[in-house]
Amino acid sequence: MNTQTVGRIDVLLGASWGDEGKGKYTDLLAEYYDVIARFQGGPNAGHTIYFTMPDGTVVKVTLHQASSGILAGKLSVSGDGMVLDMVKFREEVNYIMGYRPDACNFIKIARDAGIILPIHILLDIVSEVSSGSKSIGSTKCGIGPAYEDQTGRRGPKFHQLLQPDAREKFSKLQQRYVYIVQEAIDCCQDPKVRKEWETKLGELDADLEQCLDSARQLAAMVEMVDCGSYIRSLLDNGSRVLAEGAQGMLLDRVYGKSRYVTSSITSPPGVPLGLGVSFRELREVSGVFKAYCTRVGNGPFPTEFHRDLELNGFYKKVEHPIAHLIQLVGREFGSTTGRPRRCGWLDLPLLKEMAYLGGFTRLLMTMIDVFNGFDEIEVCVGYEEMAPDIFGRLGEAKPIFQKIPWGCHVTPDMKTWTDLPKQVQNYINMIEEYVGVPIEMVSTGPERDQVAITRSRTAKALASGSNGSLAGAHEVPGDGSLLGLAASETPLPRVS
Ligand code: IMP
Repeated sequence: MNTQTVGRIDVLLGASWGDEGKGKYTDLLAEYYDVIARFQGGPNAGHTIYFTMPDGTVVKVTLHQASSGILAGKLSVSGDGMVLDMVKFREEVNYIMGYRPDACNFIKIARDAGIILPIHILLDIVSEVSSGSKSIGSTKCGIGPAYEDQTGRRGPKFHQLLQPDAREKFSKLQQRYVYIVQEAIDCCQDPKVRKEWETKLGELDADLEQCLDSARQLAAMVEMVDCGSYIRSLLDNGSRVLAEGAQGMLLDRVYGKSRYVTSSITSPPGVPLGLGVSFRELREVSGVFKAYCTRVGNGPFPTEFHRDLELNGFYKKVEHPIAHLIQLVGREFGSTTGRPRRCGWLDLPLLKEMAYLGGFTRLLMTMIDVFNGFDEIEVCVGYEEMAPDIFGRLGEAKPIFQKIPWGCHVTPDMKTWTDLPKQVQNYINMIEEYVGVPIEMVSTGPERDQVAITRSRTAKALASGSNGSLAGAHEVPGDGSLLGLAASETPLPRVS
């Protein structure tokens, strides 16, 4: 084993509250990697990919627990740091096989990946519903309670579900929490909800049986791997590994500093922990962000569209009509829950903070085409009385907006920097200047090859030393990966 090597794993993750379009970029970049590994989260993620079938038809595919490289036939590792729902994963494998019949050859599940038990899902539901207006808006997939059991060293891990004592052991673990659900049932005012929870409580053992069955089926269909040593052996054999984030940096359990986050480490420090490798293995970090911001679930969102409506001297926050337009044009509905996403303008102070905390070496933009038809857009360039600890005080932040004249159209045939309208170029320059990280690709539509590569301009600017607007930009090593190669203005080759 090579203990000296530094920096062999690239990372791609969301720079804000998730749903930035990571799935598309992972799928696109999969061509330049052999392995795409998930290191955190679970079925709460929903990565949407527009996949071209062999007959040329384009279909929308949403992945939750397998990595987004699977359709391109890349090894998909679901790592140690994830919490997996066995029943849903078993269904997902079947679903993927509908598009790629040989998918099982490529899917690897860490033997030490955490598991979501039926009681975890019930606890998540009960906790959300009982919290009323204080709920965090979780996906109700059981993520938080499952991670609590991992932190509490109670398991379960994937391989433990395959042991002969699994039913007895995890039935006992489920029983440990029954009183919490019972208490919630006793306090619940809604007879319909009470009945629902009672039924679910009564089905816990049967649901556990289904979970164990699915685990056995999965273990028979796909390979169970010792994640750390597996990834390391792949790296030592020259395989190129991309770590794919789920959710986004602002939902990181630790950096997020509030209860309105997910329960995993969504930022780059989660990669070595979730894949069982050294932190020194991290190399390039790509932060994916939208031309605007969205958030599902509850919690502070400084640039969210709303306006103050005065009514007899009282002010009420009312959602802005632009939110509905963006929801509609940008298809801003959660891929896991179907909930409409909250929308707002791009928040540059937050993006800059994420770029620092995440060590971003490049930015990848999405959804710029959603502004087609807008006369003007806005962007947050600071906060009034900017708090030194942005994260800790997001709820108090009062954004300062700058208006930007727009009136241009972005179309999928735009493939290079020079193809992009002047207004878009100015917007990109402004973001880069503020954040200090180069924007290397701009997605111009939902499909895989609808992307403009702006990296070449960055490379040229850096080469000529005229990187005034790219302060802090890093040169990318010429490692043969897409972004190392992209000094030319060539559009991306198609994988399929
Ligand atoms: P949980 O991860 O289901 O526990 O939910 C915690 C918070 O993270 C909630 O606000 C969710 O809406 C949010 N969240 C979880 N997964 C995603 C995702 O994939 N995209 C965006 N938000 C997410």
